[in-house]
Amino acid sequence: MKPTRIAAALALAALASLAQAQGTGKVKVGLMLPYTGTFASLGTAIENGFRLYVAEQGGKLGGREVEFFKVDDESDPAKATDNANKLVKRDGVDVLVGTVHSGVAMAMAKVAKDSGTLLIVPNAGADAVTGPMCAQNIFRSSFSNWQPGYAMGEVMAKKGHKNVITITWKYAAGDESVRGFKEAFEKHGGKVTKELSLPFPNVEFQALLTEIAAAKPDAVYTFFAGGGAVKFVKDYAAAGLKGRIPLYGAGFITDGTLEAQGADADGMLTTLHYADSLDIPRDKSFRLAYAKTYKLQPDVYAVQGYDAAQMLAIGLNAVKGDLAKKAEFAAALEKAKIDSPRGAFTLSKAHNPVQDIYLRQVGQKENKFIGVAVKALADPARGCRL
Ligand code: PHB
Repeated sequence: MKPTRIAAALALAALASLAQAQGTGKVKVGLMLPYTGTFASLGTAIENGFRLYVAEQGGKLGGREVEFFKVDDESDPAKATDNANKLVKRDGVDVLVGTVHSGVAMAMAKVAKDSGTLLIVPNAGADAVTGPMCAQNIFRSSFSNWQPGYAMGEVMAKKGHKNVITITWKYAAGDESVRGFKEAFEKHGGKVTKELSLPFPNVEFQALLTEIAAAKPDAVYTFFAGGGAVKFVKDYAAAGLKGRIPLYGAGFITDGTLEAQGADADGMLTTLHYADSLDIPRDKSFRLAYAKTYKLQPDVYAVQGYDAAQMLAIGLNAVKGDLAKKAEFAAALEKAKIDSPRGAFTLSKAHNPVQDIYLRQVGQKENKFIGVAVKALADPARGCRL
């Protein structure tokens, strides 16, 4: 290259990085989600929701065009730090958006904290992310594992169940969902008599179902999601337990899974921050747009992806696209009312949604809204110092 050309190229590069710093170039969004394995469909729904919101804004957030970078995290915590660093260091993303699996999300939170990169978690409920790991640059558009579990503890105690067996995958999300459930259930006089688990993402449920059948508890509380949730509900029915020992769960057990579960899920009661039949105008327009764009019905994951994009837009608008203004970005979100399809919500001081947890019942392949299990439920954010 001639010296003049080199000078011109250098000048262009300098301009591009200046534009980036001042928040006028493209905003680089790093999607770190599962695109393979038991949570693959959840990752896709989150991305669909996120992209739908961006498309509705004409492809721009905070005045900046959006450029996507993607990594399949495989829901594998062992690869999580490397995967997050690929996006932050190699691709130089401005914001990390991910993920589904709690163990992977905790590694992402560590990378976000160490590098100062903005992180928006569009699913993983790891209590620590908005607990001991909470930070000015870490936000969640979804829930904490404690929230739906706690709500179901109240619901099942009120129904008069006294002794309950829990069953889940042995990792942060399962453990914390059960812990939240147990906290409320035992506070109201119930007793968790046995806590069953198997390693994530195993689906050999038979021996555990035999144990449940022999113990004959009043009811069962469960946390599973994605492909594993489909198999669990089908195996529960095949083992002859459906109709004999009522099965309840955090709503992930029946969200995005009903097509595959068929009649085996009918009648199930679950708690979650979303339902299929909400009488909310914002939800109706969201569902129409989503169905039209993707030829699919949305689920809770799609909503969380959509809201992650909304939250990014709120922050970016407040700082006029300049992500270096971290305190102003955070302050805007801390006072925002986020107009979600689930119903408007605010963020806690720890940056987790304060939201209504709904009681839903499965019927006609839908998670039908039955009522509000707990209004404006805030995660206790134990260990967060912000
Ligand atoms: C989690 O690992 O935090 C998790 C995974 C799938 C869900 C919900 C929570 O549906």
